[in-house]
Formats: sequence, structure tokens, C-alpha cells
Amino acid sequence: MSNRTFTMIKPDATSKGYTGAILDQIIKAGFQVKAMKWIKLSEEQAGLFYDIHRERPFFGELVSFMSSGPIVAAILEKENAVADFRKLIGATNPAQAEEGTIRKKFAASIGENAVHGSDSDENAIIEGDFFFSKLERF
Ligand code: CMP
Repeated sequence: MSNRTFTMIKPDATSKGYTGAILDQIIKAGFQVKAMKWIKLSEEQAGLFYDIHRERPFFGELVSFMSSGPIVAAILEKENAVADFRKLIGATNPAQAEEGTIRKKFAASIGENAVHGSDSDENAIIEGDFFFSKLERF
């Protein structure tokens, strides 16, 4: 069990002005920000980040959406970070997300689902390393 996870606030949420409210909910849930950047991915970068999904039918849609506008990428720290963060954001499909979760409140669809959260400790490290150098985290 690791105490760090990785998140992105996705282009649907940044464009609708939800960034502040989402960060507020994350911080109030006890997560500390250990690295953060506001960045716009190219299609190539989005494809590399989601490389594991390359063969899925929704890959093209995912890459074009994730490079359509700015995102906020962050490394978060809390005891049991990966599992607790996935609980806080709710199910991938907002229609199935529990009341009060970030996706229930801020997401419109399975494709445009407001936030990403790492699904394992191993992926949290890989995903954090994708965005942040050692100098950019503490
Ligand atoms: P995320 O947790 O960032 O990881 C992979 C993303 O693929 C997921 O959130 C969704 O946004 C997206 N995704 C998963 N399933 C579908 C689908 N059926 N159609 C479109 N996008 C999907």
C-alpha cells in the first residue's frame, strides 16, 4: 500500500470552471498536493499516457478529448491514497457513481468524466513520472 496517487482534472472539467471546486473537494478529503501543473497535452502525449488502452474502441475518442484543452495534473498524498481517491471520484461512468463523488457532481459521461485517478500503486508511480521530474515534486 502506497501513500501516493496521481490525478488529472480533465478538459471537460477545466473548461466548465470546475477546477477550483474539484481541488477543494480533494483537499478537504485529506489529500496533500505533492506536485501540480496546468498543461495542455498534444494528441501524441495523450496517446502515450493512455497507451494501455490503444487497442480499445474508444482510444481515438479518448486521445482527442484529452488533448482538446488544458488539464491539471497532480501527485497527491494520503494514507491508502489510490483506493481512497478512487472512492472519492466514484465510478468511471458517472451514471453509476455514488452520490457526492466528484464524477457524480461534475462529470457528464464515461468519456468526459472530469477526473482521472490511478488504479494501482504501480500505475500511480508510472503516471506521476510521466508528468513530473524530481525537481517538480516534494
Ligand atoms: P480514466 O480513469 O482516465 O481511464 C481511462 C479512460 O478511458 C476513462 O477514464 C474514461 O474516460 C475512458 N473510457 C473508458 N471507457 C470508455 C468508453 N466506453 N467510452 C469512452 N471512453 C471511455
